[in-house]
Amino acid sequence: MKILGISGSPRKENQSGVYKLVETVLQNSGYEYEFISLRSKKISGCIACLGCVKDNVCKVDDDMTELRQKIVEADAYVFGCPNYYSSINAMFHAFIERWFQFRHQTGNTLWGKVAVAVGVGGTTGQAPADTIEKFLLYNFVETVAKVSGQGAASCYSCGYGETCQVGIPVMLHGPEVKISEDMIPNVGQQPHLMKAAVIAGELLGRRLREGNDRQKTTQAMQAKLMAMFGETV
Ligand SMILES: Cc1cc2nc3c(=O)[nH]c(=O)nc-3n(C[C@H](O)[C@H](O)[C@H](O)COP(=O)(O)O)c2cc1C
Repeated sequence: MKILGISGSPRKENQSGVYKLVETVLQNSGYEYEFISLRSKKISGCIACLGCVKDNVCKVDDDMTELRQKIVEADAYVFGCPNYYSSINAMFHAFIERWFQFRHQTGNTLWGKVAVAVGVGGTTGQAPADTIEKFLLYNFVETVAKVSGQGAASCYSCGYGETCQVGIPVMLHGPEVKISEDMIPNVGQQPHLMKAAVIAGELLGRRLREGNDRQKTTQAMQAKLMAMFGETV
């Protein structure tokens, strides 16, 4: 059993709330894991060339090539990315677009696996966590837990945070804001958030230990996706 963790934050590992939460989830599953940050990777979006339709292998030659095998081999995933404009960021979007290579012919390489979705935002990480869950559902992968919270927006450290009219410090604390270290939302210093990440990791581990019946999970996710389509059509 092996878990693949992906952080979609472009920030350095020691500055990223996403990185910290994904790492914490992974450390608490009790299973072997590999943790990859997309910040050092060059991955373009899907170019819809259809080169993958015959054999389910993407023909775009970049860092996704080495990731493909890791995605296939993993039994579970912990995926996280930051909130950019109430959605996921481009780096993570490019990564998931390239999963198009798994969606042809029988296309069941990844079906029925399980995952945890993580989102972090300057205000909230709900939107990216929800989007990751939806994306996984398209691949009939079940999200067993979501962890989302508030991280340190770069507006606190860009140098203009106290006067910037569109920055998070003024938005959250008003026009007279004086930035101090203790007002910067650091993921690692929010016990409820760190606890949620620990619990999510334990939950994922338990699910794997109890034996994830991939066929059953696939059927449940197919039904869930169909119900979702039913609501939106
Ligand atoms: C281009 C850009 C857009 C952003 N848009 C939002 C947003 O719409 N909502 C929000 O809550 N945070 C937004 N943020 C703040 C980030 O989500 C926040 O800094 C978060 O901590 C990033 O996670 P990380 O620390 O793992 O990189 C934005 C940041 C950037 C750089």
